[in-house]
Amino acid sequence: MYLDKLEERMLRGDYGSAIARAMEVIVKVGDVLRADRLIDIDTVHVAGVSYLTIGDPGLEYLEDLASAGARFRVLTTVNPVGIDVLDKWGINNYFIDKQWRIIEALRKMGASLWLTCAPYEYLRIRPRTYHAWAESNAVAYINAVYDAWTEKLPGPFVVLSALVGKVPRYGLYTLDGRIPTRIVRLNQDKAITDPLIAGLIGRKIAEAVGNEKPYLMAKIQGNAVLKQLLASYATYSPHAFMIIDSLTPNYREYAKMMDKHEIIDIDLSEVMKGHEGKGQDFDAVFLGCPHYGFDEVTSVINYVSSKGWKRASKPVYIAVTLFTLKQLDPNVVMKLRDSNIYLVTSTCPVVSPFLKSLNVSKVATESVKQMYYLPKMVGVNYISCNGIECLDLVFND
Ligand code: F3S
Repeated sequence: MYLDKLEERMLRGDYGSAIARAMEVIVKVGDVLRADRLIDIDTVHVAGVSYLTIGDPGLEYLEDLASAGARFRVLTTVNPVGIDVLDKWGINNYFIDKQWRIIEALRKMGASLWLTCAPYEYLRIRPRTYHAWAESNAVAYINAVYDAWTEKLPGPFVVLSALVGKVPRYGLYTLDGRIPTRIVRLNQDKAITDPLIAGLIGRKIAEAVGNEKPYLMAKIQGNAVLKQLLASYATYSPHAFMIIDSLTPNYREYAKMMDKHEIIDIDLSEVMKGHEGKGQDFDAVFLGCPHYGFDEVTSVINYVSSKGWKRASKPVYIAVTLFTLKQLDPNVVMKLRDSNIYLVTSTCPVVSPFLKSLNVSKVATESVKQMYYLPKMVGVNYISCNGIECLDLVFND
């Protein structure tokens, strides 16, 4: 792989041992992937930073890097961690202390501690810019919605990319690597407006195309619905990449570049199978995977207000970004609490012990991504429900 003079100096150690170590790994990976050169990235989004998933080895690795003087060279945002930085939610102090050490190490290296899996809602990302992101839903989102270029990269690798501000040029970092190879059509009369159905469609697309790259022809209404489709698709897809007709910038160019391609038709009635009415037996409702933004929380507020702010029969936990919480009137947040609805920030049930700490062993959720990970990662079961209608389960029972 070709290295320019600056990159060679980085590799040689002229910029310190942390940069040299990072460069060494990046060059080795680039060689394995047959990258032709390195490219400069605008942003990095780090994932895999919960103490639950990386434990002491991950914590020590990050602390070692930070104390060796490693500093991020580009804007580096961070995924949800294992704790809510504003509330304990019954999590023990040992876990909380370890998690704070991880956060502090990242802070020391210069990370922007947004602690959200939806950083794309707060960044102005230009089409055809390069990024190194490790959170799959976010990778799918910026590729499909902004035509911003990133591979789905492993968490430790993007930390190194943040230190040097570069990634190897291969795969989705090249126009050829982004040419869709399957047209996927949804047979639909109306636009998809249901988050649960969108998530199930995302999973179906991933199963139908496997390693191929879809060009999706479908009508999808609203950002919340799009987030569910892409998060679910990215969970099941090896690369988390799709182009969406009439939505992805430059979609016409992508369509023209497709050569011979198979067409896959997806039948909506098939998609819903196995998700109709799974009963009322659950401990809490969970919403906010990916993290809810201001508009999604506003829909919840409007719903509860329409119910006269009565109290939900079971708790509702909603994962939101710290930015969303800041935007909300604290009195409204208190009113939600009085209605048994709790905004949880900076974390996610899949990488946190908070549901277990609250004695929740089964949730009602709209998120197909949560359905995939909750039983595996934290031993929590689920029933499925649909977007804002999930609240009917605890307000109309
Ligand atoms: Fe975010 Fe966790 Fe879902 S990181 S996308 S809330 S599984």
